[in-house]
Formats: sequence, structure tokens, C-alpha cells
Amino acid sequence: MNEEWLVCKTTGAYLEGLDEIIVTRVQSGTPGVTSMVQMLIRKGGKRIRPALLLLSGSFGRSLSKDLLFPAAAMEMLHVASLYHDDVMDQATRRRQGPTVNNLYGNASAIHAGSFLFARAMELLADTGANLSQVVSHAVSNLCLGQLRESEYRYDVTASTDHYLAVIRQKTASLFELPCTLGAMLAEAGPDIVQAMAHFGKNLGMAFQLVDDLLDLTGDGTIMGKQPGADLREGVYTHAALLALQQPASREDLVGLLLLDVITDAELDRAIGIIKDSGALGETSMLAEHYVRDAIAAIEPLPQTPAKQSLLNLASYVTERRK
Ligand code: FPP
Ligand code: MG
Repeated sequence: MNEEWLVCKTTGAYLEGLDEIIVTRVQSGTPGVTSMVQMLIRKGGKRIRPALLLLSGSFGRSLSKDLLFPAAAMEMLHVASLYHDDVMDQATRRRQGPTVNNLYGNASAIHAGSFLFARAMELLADTGANLSQVVSHAVSNLCLGQLRESEYRYDVTASTDHYLAVIRQKTASLFELPCTLGAMLAEAGPDIVQAMAHFGKNLGMAFQLVDDLLDLTGDGTIMGKQPGADLREGVYTHAALLALQQPASREDLVGLLLLDVITDAELDRAIGIIKDSGALGETSMLAEHYVRDAIAAIEPLPQTPAKQSLLNLASYVTERRK
């Protein structure tokens, strides 16, 4: 881990052992399957969700290295959701390389994701704690958010409230979960569990809003995935929906978005219309609002390196370029 926001040295040192746990726990007995399941893990990633579990755990009785196992489960659950997501989005690139579905086909990618998910659940079961209610709640929300997003594909009349409800489920639930679990497993009091859950939820909202802005304006070589994918796939995110609501931009934008096949030049024009509408700034301001809510939630917690890491992470989320 070499993330500048992570100033909590204990958490950083524990996270050094994360990949080994994951790589070991997804062994399948069949080398080809194992390498497919390990593929995205080996390509790196930000490791935000496992870090959140450990950092939250530091506000309980003591930060134990045992928390690294449920932390690994959070990353496996996240990667499992990406395997499934890339099938649904027909994505060809992620983390600077081809997606699993691109290399192995949709059916294999779906089963590899489900296998990762099952092994993540096994790691959580190994904790011996009764986590099934909180975990099943988060995972069902994750799936429902993704399904609701699909249901509204190519809907140029969708509301921004609907979009926010979708990202609350598909993304914020998987930021809230590690924060809740870390505090619960470390036996923190109910007020701390609640504060951490609130932090994670709001951080997740900001994270997805920025992710969606990067899809419109980001640099594909830095992000390691193709920008413009949302509009191409009919996923109209916050800024696009705002531009669609404005009479001055709506007609031209709808004309481009609902073309049977959209060329690169037409996609650029659609992004230009969204930019000219001022929607990007409005979406950024909303992301900042969620970051402020996240920061306010942990304000009562003691000033430790773990808290400083969470505060740094909150700033990083809106400044990041990948
Ligand atoms: C990325 O969204 C994907 C998610 C936030 C979660 C998707 C959840 C599922 C597919 C359900 C998975 C279920 C199980 C049981 C594992 P995005 O497409 O906006 O981001 P991207 O640009 O990184 O693709
Ligand atoms: Mg996607």
C-alpha cells in the first residue's frame, strides 16, 4: 500500500499482507480458474474498502491483525461486483488491462465473480461473529442498485433523485459495510458504529458521483478504463440528467444519446453539451456536500492517525483522477 492519504502506519503495515490472504483464499485447485479469479486482484486497485474496515476497527477495543481477514473479504466482494458489473456494462478495459469478460467470456466472468463472492462470505463466517444480517442487507442493496440502474438504461426522463437512490444502493452500501463491520468486530459502542456507517455511506455517495464525472471528463490512460462508457451504455448519471432537464440542452442531447449507434465524435458532442450546461460543477458541488457530511459524522471521534487517514481519504475522493 502506498496511498498518501493512509497516514495510520499500523493499518498500512497490516494491509501489506492483504493480497497474500486474498490470493491464497481464492485457490480453486484448477490453475486456469485460479488465475482468472485472481486476475483483477493482481492488477492492484485502491484497496479503499479493506482500509475502511481496519480504520473503523481502530475505534473499538483494539486494532487487531485478525481484522485483516474480514478486510480481505471486503476487497473480494468489491472485485466480485466488478466482474459482474463489467459483464453488465460490456466493459472491455479495467485497471489498465482487458476485463475478465473480454478475455474469458461473460459466462466465465459471472461464475468467477460468484466464486469470489462465496469465498468472501467464507472469510466472514470464519470470524465467528454473527454478521449475516448486516452483510446480506448490504449485498442485496448492491444487487438491487445494479438492477435498478439497468432498468433505467436509455431513460432520458429519469430523475436525479432516482440516480441518487441507485448509487446509494450500488456503491454507498459497499462503503458503509466495511465501516460498520470494522467497528462492530472491534466491539465499538453503538454510537461509534453509527458514526462510521454514516461516514462510509456519505463517502460512497461522493466516490460514485466523482467516478461518474471522471467517466465524462477523465483521461482513459490515467483511469485504466474507457471514459464515455456510461453514455454509450445508456447509463445517465447525475450531470447528464441535470443537462437533460435543461430546456436549452435537452433536445440536442436526447438526439445524440438515443442514436442507434453513437460515434466517438457524437459522444464528444454529447459530453460537450453536458459541459456547456454547467452540470459538471453542480455535480462536483453535490459530491463536496457528501464529503462534508462524512467528515461531520466522525467529528466526535478521537484525533488519531486512523481518523486523520479517514479525513484525508474524504478529501482524496473528490480530488482523484482515477
Ligand atoms: C461499478 O459501477 C459497480 C458497482 C458499484 C457495483 C455493481 C454491483 C453488482 C454488479 C452486483 C454484484 C453482486 C454480487 C453478489 C457480487 P460503475 O459501472 O458505475 O463503475 P465503473 O466505471 O468502475 O465500471
Ligand atoms: Mg461499470
